[in-house]
Amino acid sequence: MANGKEGTDQAATRWKDEEYFYPSKEFIAQANLNNKSVFDRFALDNFPNYYAEFADLITWFKPWEKVFDSSEAPTWKWFTGGTLNVSYNCIDRHLAKNANKTAIHYVPEPMNEKTEHITYQELYVRVNEFAALLRNTAKLKRGDRVTIHMPMVAELPITMLACARLGVIHNVVFGGFSSSACADRIIDSKSRVLITMDAYYRAGKLIDHKSVDDESCQLAADGGQKVDTLLIWQRYPGKNSSPAPMVAGRDIVVQDELKKYYGARIDPEHMDSHDPLFLMYTSGTTGKPKGCQHGTGGYLSYVTAMAKYILDIQPEDVYWCTADIGWITGHSFIVYGPLALGASSIMYEGVPTYPDAGRNWRIAQDLGITIFYTAPTAIRALRKVGPDEPKKYNLKFKLIGTVGEPIEPEVWRWYYKEVGKDQAAVVDTYWQTETGGFVFCTVPGLAPMKPGSAGPGVPGIHPVLFDDEGNTLPPGSNKPAHFCIKNPWPGCFQTIWGNRDRFVNSYFGTYNRDRNSKDWRDWPYITGDTAIEAGDGYVRILGRADDVINVSGHRLGSKEIEAAALTVPEIAEAAVVAIPHEIKGAEPELYVSLKPGVVATPDIEKKVADAIVFQIGKIAKCGRIWVVPDMPKTRSGKIMRRVLLAVSTKADVGNIMTLANPEIVDAIQKMVNK
Ligand code: WT7
Repeated sequence: MANGKEGTDQAATRWKDEEYFYPSKEFIAQANLNNKSVFDRFALDNFPNYYAEFADLITWFKPWEKVFDSSEAPTWKWFTGGTLNVSYNCIDRHLAKNANKTAIHYVPEPMNEKTEHITYQELYVRVNEFAALLRNTAKLKRGDRVTIHMPMVAELPITMLACARLGVIHNVVFGGFSSSACADRIIDSKSRVLITMDAYYRAGKLIDHKSVDDESCQLAADGGQKVDTLLIWQRYPGKNSSPAPMVAGRDIVVQDELKKYYGARIDPEHMDSHDPLFLMYTSGTTGKPKGCQHGTGGYLSYVTAMAKYILDIQPEDVYWCTADIGWITGHSFIVYGPLALGASSIMYEGVPTYPDAGRNWRIAQDLGITIFYTAPTAIRALRKVGPDEPKKYNLKFKLIGTVGEPIEPEVWRWYYKEVGKDQAAVVDTYWQTETGGFVFCTVPGLAPMKPGSAGPGVPGIHPVLFDDEGNTLPPGSNKPAHFCIKNPWPGCFQTIWGNRDRFVNSYFGTYNRDRNSKDWRDWPYITGDTAIEAGDGYVRILGRADDVINVSGHRLGSKEIEAAALTVPEIAEAAVVAIPHEIKGAEPELYVSLKPGVVATPDIEKKVADAIVFQIGKIAKCGRIWVVPDMPKTRSGKIMRRVLLAVSTKADVGNIMTLANPEIVDAIQKMVNK
């Protein structure tokens, strides 16, 4: 592999086939889905009509006429003719029977602050009043885009649901992203309104956030997109927790302004099923993140079905997904899926190991959490700081889940034994920002679990694997291959905002033979991952086949990091490699070379490191930055990231005699091994 990552064949040798674990009788008896007939109903022959079952889980203002419309292939349309509103589905429809049920339990990080229990009735009031503010003060209307750069506070889902109520397309940017990353997303989505919070807690510190977004507004304006309204939620209402001054004419403190809207009620907009609900930017092969556009009816049906059948959320469950709402996992499985089901969903502001290794488990114990969904990187970290910690608490999980990256079988077994107490069902959910909801995972009440494997396709998803030459492999071939999905599904994103060509090329280009075809069979969806399908139909994800690095379950483009490094004037070339990491799964290491005539000084590394934090955010921080005299290159001038990876991991660099400058490898090795 030339892309600076472990080759699939090497990765495959790290895994061996694992034994099955079986869900308990008690779990199966209570499961939402425990009848195998679902797989007959969801057989490919019944595509697309089987998805009507998912659409029946939500409430439509006007019933849909057709399940699936392929006239704009591969932009599929779902449940056409139907109208609905997502905030109505997540709030209003629960009021008749469950107004008093907790919708969101919000846990602030400081131990002395009380958990807030927001009922569906209260959520209804707060979403309506804020929707009135968005409409009347911020002048937002159906189809407008608004960028939201907020931490993990209850006001974030309230903001999203208020947008959905009005048909405003929200574009949530992970709170930890830098001003520059936020500005890029404001510009690309053409948002004239930005919503932020003054400050939030992280690891015991009250972090100033408003200053970041003053800078986002400035950078967006420099890039041609003026933010005329900055809405600022206060972490402590009535008190400004950021040193940043208010900008007259632009800045509005939300809690002050809300006083005008006491008692306001906003009729939910009747949205077409195909109307966009939100944008979520994610990394790809180029330096510029792409705005994945998700729709309304298909998306909501899909995430509701997945929350019900895979996460097995039932009325009396208390459910905690520890993701940040700034990523797709939080959108689909903290907010939309669970709330559409009328569930009680937990939000926690801060760090799971703050102030000590037991915090995460105390939250679970005290709130009586029954379903826990997190990422391998969090499991590794919790296991490292407190392998015996879960034993100290009365945990009663019926289901525990994981998402974001492959989980090592050893880590899986600790999770099952210590956290699940040998009795919780485990779901390893494989999916992507683009897929909207799960695509590969065992149905917990129907299939055994296999550590390290996500499982077969969820009902309705049918895989197809291709070799490097583009031939399909027979099912269960046990070979690393390009991992694709045969059929469309309602949760899939609709397009890349403002760039349909890139959408078609990146996700369907390779295996489509007829660009004009309106037949879905001609458009297998490309995940960008390599995977092995075992004889039992379970898939094991090996990793990305493209230039995407998965760091702590966060998706980063190598090119994005390299582009950030190249903003430093002294830098001529930059190359990122992904090094295996105990907790994060992988960590980027960066090689840079200097422009001719520039002398290496000790501050260069820091300049590059700062540029990365400025352009992207702390999550993209590189483990090491090596300033090298030159990059190893092929005769055609291509940087050999594979060689750099071998140097970094102290592996065999292989045959380098075909390089244009083989001698440089030795020089770099001496530097790295010193
Ligand atoms: C990439 C998508 C969708 C939620 C969070 C990540 C990797 C995701 C798994 C899993 C192995 C996984 C893939 C995928 N991935 N889940 N269960 N096992 N790998 O969303 O940021 O869009 O990243 O994460 O490589 O392509 P994302």
